[in-house]
Amino acid sequence: MVQKREHWGSHWGFIMAAMGSAVGLGNIWRFSYAMGQGGGSAFLIIYLLSVLVIGFPVMLIEFSIGRRAQTDAVDAFKKIAPGTPWMAAGGLGVLAAFLILSFYGVIGGWSLRYSFEYLTGGITGDSTDFFVGFIGDTFSPIFWQFIFMGLTIGIVYLGVQKGIELSSKWMMPILSILLVGLAAFSLTLGGAAEAFAFMFQPDWAAFTDPSVYISAMGQAFFTLSLGMGAMLTYSSYLEPKERLTSSAAFIIVLDTLFALISGLVIFPALFAYGLDPAEGAGLVFMVLPNIFEALGGIGTLAGFAFFILLSMAALSSAISLLEVAVAYFIRKLNMSRKKVTVIVGAIIFLLGIPSSLSQGAVSITIFGESFLDFMDSFTGNLLLPLGGLIMVLFVGWTWTKKEVLHHGDIAHNPLGPLYFLTAKFVAPAAILVVLIMGMLNWL
Ligand code: PHE
Ligand code: NA
Repeated sequence: MVQKREHWGSHWGFIMAAMGSAVGLGNIWRFSYAMGQGGGSAFLIIYLLSVLVIGFPVMLIEFSIGRRAQTDAVDAFKKIAPGTPWMAAGGLGVLAAFLILSFYGVIGGWSLRYSFEYLTGGITGDSTDFFVGFIGDTFSPIFWQFIFMGLTIGIVYLGVQKGIELSSKWMMPILSILLVGLAAFSLTLGGAAEAFAFMFQPDWAAFTDPSVYISAMGQAFFTLSLGMGAMLTYSSYLEPKERLTSSAAFIIVLDTLFALISGLVIFPALFAYGLDPAEGAGLVFMVLPNIFEALGGIGTLAGFAFFILLSMAALSSAISLLEVAVAYFIRKLNMSRKKVTVIVGAIIFLLGIPSSLSQGAVSITIFGESFLDFMDSFTGNLLLPLGGLIMVLFVGWTWTKKEVLHHGDIAHNPLGPLYFLTAKFVAPAAILVVLIMGMLNWL
């Protein structure tokens, strides 16, 4: 069976889908708790530097590989460099898709449950008890994870144009409006000054902590969907004539704004109510309901807006994770998209069950972390930077300078030479240093 390869209906559709992939739980749930634990501004500065020096070249490189190869993350390397081991990056990517989506679906399920809760009146009483009780339950979080994965599978099942592109074109503008509205509201609550100080006033001591570097760089990879072939796969659905450089810049700027603005939603509210920013992975679920409750009716509405925002952002990212694996297996097994999507989606749902159970129902820990937290930090802080490192090395060191500039559409741009130097030397060196720092810190 020879299958015709799908393409985006429009360039705008591609941008919305790639932005949908980038903007997700990473910007809100993961960003807020990682920054809360990383001491605020020190984390923020290293994260922003990583986005600029590593994020931009890696994204343009993934785009260059995908559009050039017009195929999935594994085959792309085989096609461009037959018989070489570079395709390991693609293999790691497909593995990362399974691992990340397994726990991502669990948090996506939590978000859906909370949206539903606010639709039907809100969460009252002790919100920590509510959260701990819910995630520690055996069946309820798995039920919501199942619903979330069902939606993800449903969209990918419909295909590149009718599923991924169409849903992203609707969800992204709605998300942006919801986020800006919530930030404006949160800033009126009285914690704005403290939040600004926490986010933007450098705390020099935190710069000496190696774990802050690892988590900030990992966050840059995770939030931009880099290092595992999601951006590669999406750009492989572009026609070869479509331009890349400004799309990469646009997506990066918007993803970063999304993270900063959601910081301005969460931290002012948090400080206004005297709560702790270092709360950890449950931050948005435990902290925000207190605030929504204290605000009465408008709070219930704000709570619904917030958790719907979180759910939609999660969904548009989850579809990109699933698509990496689906695109690979459609070709590999030569089976229809519909069959592959259902099978792969179901396997990932099952893989997520231990993450869900690890939140209280059953004690599953690795290196002292819950299984879910381990999967989150292992994939984000290690697997993605490693995948990204292989991809920049592949392009920077096996393509000619002319090819690198040409496939990044940056040959006639004054920033071209700077991009080339960054892609060839600065980005790989930076990733390597931080990875080694992380290993040493871990030992
Ligand atoms: N970028 C997404 C987020 O911020 C997560 C993601 C990572 C999606 C890797 C695809 C690939 O939530
Ligand atoms: Na993101």
